[in-house]
Amino acid sequence: MNAVITAVAHNVPPDVYDNVWFESKIDTNDEWIKTRTGITERHFAFEGGVTDILLPAAQRVLDQRGITAQDIDLIIIATITGDRVFPSSAAILQRKLGATNAWGFDLAGACSGFLYALVTGAKLVESGAVKRALILGGDKMSSILNFEDRTTCVLFGDGGGAVLLEASEDESFGVVDHILHMDGRGEDFLHQKAGGSLRPPSIETVTNREHFVYQEGQAVFKSAVKGMADVSYEIMKRNNLTADDVAWLVPHQANLRIIDATADRMGLSRDKVMINIDRYGNTTAGTIPICLSELHLHKKVSKGDYLVLSSFGAGYTWGSVLVRWSIDS
Ligand code: ACO
Repeated sequence: MNAVITAVAHNVPPDVYDNVWFESKIDTNDEWIKTRTGITERHFAFEGGVTDILLPAAQRVLDQRGITAQDIDLIIIATITGDRVFPSSAAILQRKLGATNAWGFDLAGACSGFLYALVTGAKLVESGAVKRALILGGDKMSSILNFEDRTTCVLFGDGGGAVLLEASEDESFGVVDHILHMDGRGEDFLHQKAGGSLRPPSIETVTNREHFVYQEGQAVFKSAVKGMADVSYEIMKRNNLTADDVAWLVPHQANLRIIDATADRMGLSRDKVMINIDRYGNTTAGTIPICLSELHLHKKVSKGDYLVLSSFGAGYTWGSVLVRWSIDS
């Protein structure tokens, strides 16, 4: 059995915040944000949890495929901003969706979470353990952003998406190959200091603002450029594909300069690189499913196309997944 993507959708909160919005709050400006990151605006939801963002995407996937929530066997949500520490957001979404036959779990792979979840889900489908898996990636980054820290708060946004993975006997489509990596030494440069078992919430952790994203941007940038470019090139080469064979690079949207370096390494022209960082910023586990959904929505991807999905994020975690698109445009 092969695992193929049979539906895809995304959702972002309605409220849009442009770069100028930050100018009255912190020492920043539109020019700096645009030239250093590629971001123009992002969506924030200051109410609700990440499952409120993901629920409409999940519902759209079911509608697109013409199935009901009871047809879902497995729900995996890639997120680092779950509604609660426990139960899992997968359980919360299962209830909201009415997917009473599904089991599932959350997966904390930060910006690479969706790729980790996609590969995990694909293996469960390929093994015959489940028939239909709903794989979601999304984050409500506004819940862990320090809006007084100009080095992080301008970078992120809220949003997410979902794909449906189904078993197919046709081996020419689906999740073809993957290369996933992790290097725990990255923890020093990108983490949330408190809120977990190491430093449970206390008056001290709140006063010290330890519940927010902490990032040493330059160190992460250097590792991200090399990690994402190398792994994207490697997956192309080991599948005997040239830049001409690849229809789209679908990169994690953290920084336009990281994306450009990856495309250069692969020898891809910019018209084959999916970019929406300008409109959404970095939605962490949400970036890749949002990109896939927009490609499909705007009929920019056709059945049989090769897509290289690539990411780099906290952990460090990084990787590439080669997908042969299986939905008719
Ligand atoms: N507005 C204006 N100036 C700023 C801002 C801002 N919002 N933020 C930082 N600056 C200043 C800095 O203070 C610094 O000033 P100084 O030279 O006087 O000290 C200057 O701009 C340059 O700062 P750098 O950090 O060197 O800027 P850089 O070009 O590296 O860009 C950025 C920073 C965008 C964060 C970049 O390093 C980056 O993209 N890093 C990788 C991010 C990433 O991929 N993260 C992984 C995914 S996230 C996840 O997994 C949760």
